[in-house]
Amino acid sequence: GIPKFVKIVEVGPRDGLQNEKNIVPTDVKIELIHRLASCGLSVIEATSFVSPKWVPQLGDAKDVMQAVRNLGGIRFPVLTPNLKGFEAAIAAGAREVAVFASASESFSKSNINCSVEESLARYGAVTRAAKELSIPVRGYVSCVVGCPEEGPISPSKVAYVAKELYNMGCFEISLGDTIGVGTPGTVVPMLAAVMAVVPKVKLAVHFHDTYGQSLVNILVSLQMGISIVDSSVAGLGGCPYAKGASGNVATEDVVYMLNGLGVKTNIDLGKLMLAGDFISNHLGRPSGSKTAIALGRA
Ligand code: HMG
Ligand code: MG
Repeated sequence: GIPKFVKIVEVGPRDGLQNEKNIVPTDVKIELIHRLASCGLSVIEATSFVSPKWVPQLGDAKDVMQAVRNLGGIRFPVLTPNLKGFEAAIAAGAREVAVFASASESFSKSNINCSVEESLARYGAVTRAAKELSIPVRGYVSCVVGCPEEGPISPSKVAYVAKELYNMGCFEISLGDTIGVGTPGTVVPMLAAVMAVVPKVKLAVHFHDTYGQSLVNILVSLQMGISIVDSSVAGLGGCPYAKGASGNVATEDVVYMLNGLGVKTNIDLGKLMLAGDFISNHLGRPSGSKTAIALGRA
């Protein structure tokens, strides 16, 4: 059966905004996070401490982090690609970080400018530094079913990278279909391979809706025992180094489906839709959530 409770990791302020061409003002990002924090979400990925030359949109990471760090009872992980990013994150008050490796060599090169093995060595340094400060580290694997350059990715490569991240101390491993090409036909064997080497309670799934497959992929993941789902308010998102990748699955749509399944999330869908309206209005386009559009019309 499917889990009774699902933890949602809201990635809108980071994954959702990182690809926006026009710089979103820092106070808008902070207000978005405040609004999301009022919805009952327990984890909100706030920003990334990456090179501002690579991701200009998140060049205000320090200011965003400092403004939200003390919002009570919520975890605000931030992406850190190396020790430099880790140190900056800690200096800004981050109490949880995430490292992001890839199951595809080409994507690793285009996203973080190094090979998969080099990235694992960097992340080993980050996890060691984090351990000394008792900072939890989340591990991402991207391109878990397909890569924009290499095409299909083998489940064994995903399992290898996931296991390496788990062994170095990541408390949770998020499996990302970065370009949204997966279907249950590819997601199920990928998850089976990863579950053979990392306990399923430690795994999260992270889907993009490029081909409209994200909810069905989440459902099969739940059926396989996954109970942590990444999603983005209003379906914001896309990756700057994955051409054509559309938004993350919308948090509103995930919550609507989970409510329908009787799975608890502790998330207030009405408040979530208001947060989605806020950022969609700012960006000047309709929400990427079908639920938000349908209920907004009702
Ligand atoms: P590089 O150019 O190889 O790095 O980039 P470098 O070490 O040679 O340094 C170059 C410059 O960057 C130097 O500055 C460094 O100080 C600076 P300069 O001397 O030229 O003035 N630098 C930094 N500045 C701020 N923060 C840092 C940092 N590190 C170096 N942490 C690097 C390598 C990893 C830094 C770069 O490639 C990078 O920042 N990449 C991040 C790209 C990114 O954020 N991508 C999106 C997130 S991943 C994703 O979306 C997938 C995911 O969502 C899952 C899914 O959807 O499937 C997680
Ligand atoms: Mg993503």
